[in-house]
Amino acid sequence: MSENQFNIQWYPGHMAKAKREISQMTKLVDIVIELKDARIPYSSTNPIINEICGHKPRLILLNKSDMADKNITRDWINYYKKNNIMALDIDSITGYNIKNIIPYAKIVLTDEFKKREAKGIKKTSIRAMILGIPNVGKSTLINKLAKRKAVNVGDKPGVTKTQSWIKVSNELELLDTPGILWPKFEDEIVGLKLAMCGTIKDDILDLKDIVVKSLDYLKENYPNLLQTRYNLDDINKDSYELLDTIAIKRGCILKGGIPDLDRAEKIFLNELRDLKIGRMSYEKPEERN
Ligand code: G4P
Repeated sequence: MSENQFNIQWYPGHMAKAKREISQMTKLVDIVIELKDARIPYSSTNPIINEICGHKPRLILLNKSDMADKNITRDWINYYKKNNIMALDIDSITGYNIKNIIPYAKIVLTDEFKKREAKGIKKTSIRAMILGIPNVGKSTLINKLAKRKAVNVGDKPGVTKTQSWIKVSNELELLDTPGILWPKFEDEIVGLKLAMCGTIKDDILDLKDIVVKSLDYLKENYPNLLQTRYNLDDINKDSYELLDTIAIKRGCILKGGIPDLDRAEKIFLNELRDLKIGRMSYEKPEERN
């Protein structure tokens, strides 16, 4: 991710502009490919995406699935299926399931193409755009599909440049600039989940609060992973006490033997985000949708 993601000022005028521009982009494509973070499909969703995309056929890609809990990702895919939405779990870095994007897009567009055939319109390749919040992996996916190293993505919402197309194959053409949308950051729980995934920059966060709440979540949902990573004898303690223990276990000690909590917080958060503790998901479909 480029360094100034989330420095974006999402003030109302900016959001309105992004909305307008993305609505324009959707007019150019057959299908919108919406990228979500597989660990937090709810929190990595723009609150008004339905309004922005209208009735445009949509395919959901749960990216970074390599970092998410496999069983929970499966539950999310089934949840979308029940709601008649096609969703696919992918990893844009290794390319896992990327080959299934075109077949899935074709399924989403079955009715649309039938209608066109009935009107005598010859079948053309699918035109698509990628859409998602910052840091969800849009540029990584575009690069993977385009088989190139870098994509020139402006860190601004919406798009201001003239659009050009990337020919992924004879069957798929992709707008070379993704649509960038804001998350629902006024929701405190969403903010926490985005921070757990490292989507929000740390300098705007209360790190202790994020760490303590993350420990609360792990104690409840992934106690064994937490216990193993930090070699903890007892995790049924208050999360503040657990943080003390983690600091001591990791040798983060200040003069006088006081645990260096600032250092321990940073270590824990980095490890949480770098897959060191294990594959985890922070949202289940039955909780939030
Ligand atoms: P964006 O265009 O949507 O803003 O996201 P971008 O592609 O820049 O990806 C953001 C970060 O997520 C990058 O890490 C990228 O390598 C990582 N990423 C993208 N897709 C996947 C995936 O499927 N699995 C995993 N594990 N990581 C993925 P980065 O360059 O290290 O970002 P940063 O650490 O500099 O923030």
